[in-house]
Amino acid sequence: MKDGHDQGPPLVRLDAAELHFPVGGVVAQLQGRATVVKAVDGVTFELRRGESVGLLGESGCGKTSTGRMLVRLDKATGGRVEFDGEDVSGLTGDALKRFRSRVQLIFQNPFEALNPRFTIRDVLAEPLENARIPRAEHEERILRAMALVKLGDAGQFMDRYPHQLSGGQLQRIVMARALILEPEFVVADEPVSMLDVSVRAGVLNVFRDVRAQQGITAIYISHDLALVRYVCERTIVMYLGRIVEDGPTEDIVANPLHPYTQALVAAVPVPHPDQSHAPLPIGRGAPDPRNPPSGCTFRDRCPRAFDRCAVEAPGPTHVQNRIVHCHLHEPKT
Ligand SMILES: Nc1ncnc2c1ncn2[C@@H]1O[C@H](COP(=O)(O)OP(=O)(O)O)[C@@H](O)[C@H]1O
Ligand SMILES: [Mg+2]
Repeated sequence: MKDGHDQGPPLVRLDAAELHFPVGGVVAQLQGRATVVKAVDGVTFELRRGESVGLLGESGCGKTSTGRMLVRLDKATGGRVEFDGEDVSGLTGDALKRFRSRVQLIFQNPFEALNPRFTIRDVLAEPLENARIPRAEHEERILRAMALVKLGDAGQFMDRYPHQLSGGQLQRIVMARALILEPEFVVADEPVSMLDVSVRAGVLNVFRDVRAQQGITAIYISHDLALVRYVCERTIVMYLGRIVEDGPTEDIVANPLHPYTQALVAAVPVPHPDQSHAPLPIGRGAPDPRNPPSGCTFRDRCPRAFDRCAVEAPGPTHVQNRIVHCHLHEPKT
């Protein structure tokens, strides 16, 4: 157990995973427009048991799509997604059911995540029913899950409906539902982005503490480097469906290597009341994912792009303790 992590085989493994969506249909095809969005376009990484890893990037870069593929809400359209050594695309029947209890997704929007006609008790009993946990155990497990997410007086919430709870309380219930079957792997998709700023820290702390206490392997999805830094020891930076940099969060913050990561780090809010987020120093938003630039897809915003960047997509290069996809960092040949 070097540095507190399991050194055994990875719990999660993506190998050139792709999630391509058909768009536009016949008309677009006739007009010669792109007919596919490459939401995830050849993503490779491994997670060791007990790791917490941030998936960071601007809106539309493929974070949610990657998360949905990891929990098999969407099937990869190419490459491979493995959980505990098994290809998750091939899971059916009982094996798929078992996978569904070991792996959970925490959705971005708690206001839409819960059935409005279910009481909180029903919401939390549902996964127990699906996993055929004996009825006699339900009450105790529900109370335990609510205590885990620090919903103090559980009795007070049990028979209420979602609309009677605040956003912060709802997101704690969403977390309790995700945790009630004691999953090994959790994907949290921007779990505080829809919440009032005043309740974000509380929810974030619950997620961070429970994850660490229970040794849950986690992916924390966010567009906000400050949040990822608070929750995750390792960060994977995505740009237009691809990974640009992957490494220990503190090293990435101290010394970002990819020009895109450098821009993200430069835009992190400074701890001063008069200054908020600096704008990304690379200008306007990401290009249209239906029509990405050739070669390195970041090149049209990159202050350091050169000829080769338009021709060839950079492969992974190991630099220090990082993996970087950038021609600037490739060994000179
Ligand atoms: N079901 C879908 N059909 C078509 N395009 C999609 C679908 N889901 C996502 N996309 C597109 O894939 C890209 C990545 O989306 P997403 O994974 O939601 O990014 P993020 O979570 O980083 O904001 C976007 O261009 C988005 O419009
Ligand atoms: Mg998203």
